[in-house]
Amino acid sequence: MIFHFSTSSLLFYLSVFSSLVKAAHEHHEHHHHARDTLQTQAARDDSDFFAIAWFAGWHQDSTPSFATSDVDWEKYTHMAYSFAVPTQDVTQLSLDGSEGDKLPAFVQAAHQNNVKALIAMGGWAGSMYFSSAVGSPENRTAFVKTVTDFTSKYGLDGINFDWEYPNKQGIGCNVISPNDAMNFLAFLLQLRQDPVGAKLSLSAATGITTFSGPSGEPLTDVSGFAEVFDFIAIMNYDVWGSWSATVGPNSPLADSCAASENQQGSAATAVKNWNGAGIPLDKIVLGVASYGHSFVVPHSDAFVSGSSTELAAYPPFDRTAFPHGDSWDDNGGPDACGHHEPSGGTYNFWGLIDNGFLDQSGNFVDNIPNRFDSCSQTPYVYNPDTTIMVSFDNAQSFSSKGKFIKGAGLKGFAMWESGGDYKNILLDAITAGMRE
Ligand SMILES: *[C@@H]1O[C@H](CO)[C@@H](O)[C@H](O)[C@H]1NC(C)=O
Repeated sequence: MIFHFSTSSLLFYLSVFSSLVKAAHEHHEHHHHARDTLQTQAARDDSDFFAIAWFAGWHQDSTPSFATSDVDWEKYTHMAYSFAVPTQDVTQLSLDGSEGDKLPAFVQAAHQNNVKALIAMGGWAGSMYFSSAVGSPENRTAFVKTVTDFTSKYGLDGINFDWEYPNKQGIGCNVISPNDAMNFLAFLLQLRQDPVGAKLSLSAATGITTFSGPSGEPLTDVSGFAEVFDFIAIMNYDVWGSWSATVGPNSPLADSCAASENQQGSAATAVKNWNGAGIPLDKIVLGVASYGHSFVVPHSDAFVSGSSTELAAYPPFDRTAFPHGDSWDDNGGPDACGHHEPSGGTYNFWGLIDNGFLDQSGNFVDNIPNRFDSCSQTPYVYNPDTTIMVSFDNAQSFSSKGKFIKGAGLKGFAMWESGGDYKNILLDAITAGMRE
């Protein structure tokens, strides 16, 4: 195994996370050594990395649309159609709002390209009824039948459970219970006993801390989940956004190098959390974002004092303004709980190009001041005319994350979402980083 960083910009976390990386490296070496006894050296390459994305079913119907024919399938190992939603009735999953009639064509396209077709279940707006679906032995039995009937009906290869979150309120009106994590595990064990469930790829999309236990605190031992999941995808994004105190990185690679008030979590700490609680590194996939969050920042806060070009780090923003993002952003309205929400302010990577923040190659442009934060390995751009600042990931961010995945011995990446990229600039950067 070769482990080295080719760019000095990465040296900072090499020192900060040397113990994690060293442990990961030893683990990785061991892992490969074991496989070498089964495979010839020549046959071994990096093709055992997982290259995963979520495919948002509803964007097949958006402007611009992102259809199954727009996916460069050969660049992926798994794709998760989003979302099938557990309902109040444990026997029913809903595809409402996700263009469910197009799911069969998605599965067909994936299989033609030798890509595993997963269904992503739940999501931020679809996690109301996980708790009740797994809340009793009767319900667990019924829910096992519901999900296996669903995967059989559509010929799916697996399920990515996006429960946001067990015993932790997400959108605001989810059913939650202190027993959620325990019941979830009991359900998964039962699903693995099922002849259909035994053969599925089972995974979870998780937060940056472990599942909450009965007390509401993150569990310190989640090793039971390692027995039932093929992998977990850590959603290391939305770490900063309109709810934060200041502008900050959507998807920080590291944060221990930031000021203490700016340590809100990162890929590095999330991996430490989950691995420390018993999920092997080679069952961890890093969730990465092909979008960023926007903020309205007055000129007086956007720049370091005395400068009209150099952007300030972590500036305050106008908390009363909820800017509209790119054409996929909503205009606000009632959420799944019926509460009024303002527009999200998200820009997909293509949206940053569309709106003149970046050029056609995804690079910075002259009239848009930018700042690359070396700690989080993510950039900010600022349009002085509109006073919109966007924190996002560019090719350099994705390349750094790819190197981190390889260096730490993780299984690969999962990108929200496949349709957010532009000409595979991000996808190609993370893949190259992993394989370097
Ligand atoms: C079992 O599922 C039903 C809905 O199908 C729900 O009403 C009930 O509360 C669930 N039981 C538990 C203990 O969560």
